[in-house]
Amino acid sequence: MKILFFDTKSYDKDSFEKEKRKYPSLEIDYLKTDLAPRTAQLAHGYDAVCAFVNSDVGTDTVERLHEAGVKTILMRCAGYNNVSLETAARCGIRVLRVPGYSPEAVAEHAMALALAADRRMHKAYVKVRENDFSLGGLMGFNFYRKTAGIIGTGKIGAAMARICRGFGMEVIAYDLYEDKSLKEFVTYKPLEKVLAEGDLISLHCPLTDETYHLINRETIARMKDGVVLVNTSRGALVKTEDLIEGIRARKFHGVGLDVYEEESSNVFEDRSDEILEHSTTARLLSFPNVMITSHQGFFTAEALAAIADTTLQNAMDAQQGRENSNICR
Ligand code: NAI
Repeated sequence: MKILFFDTKSYDKDSFEKEKRKYPSLEIDYLKTDLAPRTAQLAHGYDAVCAFVNSDVGTDTVERLHEAGVKTILMRCAGYNNVSLETAARCGIRVLRVPGYSPEAVAEHAMALALAADRRMHKAYVKVRENDFSLGGLMGFNFYRKTAGIIGTGKIGAAMARICRGFGMEVIAYDLYEDKSLKEFVTYKPLEKVLAEGDLISLHCPLTDETYHLINRETIARMKDGVVLVNTSRGALVKTEDLIEGIRARKFHGVGLDVYEEESSNVFEDRSDEILEHSTTARLLSFPNVMITSHQGFFTAEALAAIADTTLQNAMDAQQGRENSNICR
């Protein structure tokens, strides 16, 4: 099988080339450019394309991939809200993903963001570097004996719940489906209660029509004053304008974001030399209690190895027409 790999970064190539030794029948060519309607035609002569979380795999792209003869789309990520599954099904293209490569990688990053926002690590680091050893503006609160509210207790949410328990927190959660294996230390409650009782609220549900702008003016108003909000899931779970309004109203003690709306053009790019069109990140970063990272929750050595291995296994299964639970439907 010939695979065209889009949006390649050096670490992608390293991890895929390492894992590929186990799959000699797979051939991969790496492109720096990302998958989009205009670049889809580059896939002529390839059986499969490999794309990532912010690639544009909408209707136009999928149709052009179909015209190019592509039979398989290998998403090297968990989320696939950027893929038109309807078009893929119509074109007979199989879409596969990597559902759970290292939930702990994302959950540990969520806790890192929560702690950093709470204890103002981003501010403290810069202050000490400038020989400013004063503590003004750095006061946080203990997580010990506070309440963690987890929204979405799938693989990552469950890992976050375990971490919060390790911190001595009471863990409450909301999900459409309760995970019985967590019942020993997680109390499921309706969404309003989780919002109202959490000192730390961490989002771990996927982006769907139902969860789009789940965090908005109304749900923010239900939260405790002084809450720490963390989003490592998808940017559009949070309505940014309402978040900014809430931050200005002093609702939050801290906000940690690994994802945010309008992140697509930023993610994994060095734009330090550019004058940016949108001011969302700049506006958010103007607040002392906001900590932002650029979709790096998954970025650990363990996770990258697992992503490469599962993606290549998906490719093998697609090549041999085998059924696979990672097929997106
Ligand atoms: P998962 O599928 O194991 O869990 C998602 C959970 O959310 C499920 O338990 C599901 O029942 C629940 N859910 C669905 N709709 C809901 C709703 N309306 N309200 C409450 N709960 C709802 O997914 P996993 O692996 O835990 O990933 C969660 C999300 O994390 C992904 O959808 C993805 O968007 C994001 N992610 C972020 C990464 C990063 O680097 N920042 C990396 C990987 C995933």
